[in-house]
Amino acid sequence: MNAFDDLVEAARAARERAVAPYSNFKVGAALVTRAGRIYGGCNVENASYGLTVCAERVALLKALSEGEREFRALAVVADTAQPTPPCGSCRQLLWEYCGDIPVILANAIGITAEHKLGALLPHPFDRRNLT
Ligand code: THU
Repeated sequence: MNAFDDLVEAARAARERAVAPYSNFKVGAALVTRAGRIYGGCNVENASYGLTVCAERVALLKALSEGEREFRALAVVADTAQPTPPCGSCRQLLWEYCGDIPVILANAIGITAEHKLGALLPHPFDRRNLT
């Protein structure tokens, strides 16, 4: 039993809905808000490959568009033995809206790694650089 079990389970459920006919690499993500509400997301691919949207970004945009602004943790699930961390673009977006949250990486069997987002995105560019 882990404090993030429900979040990982939500990411696994979201992964089942992945739309990944080109890569066949299905990813699920789930973000939990400070109030405890969970938003899932899956990757959504397109024949114009560059338009693909990652699972993490789908979860984040769903939550933001529902008015959520405070987040506690993110889980990412893929069917890989090695942990599948968020891509660089997603790290940048997540940092903007979530800050230094725990990022839990898991597969069908269990949790494979856990990092703080700040460790995945050292020396970030953010609003502080704009002042
Ligand atoms: N993908 C994600 O959804 N999240 C990640 O963390 C890594 C990559 C997706 C994008 C694409 O649909 C597929 O995985 C292969 O890159």
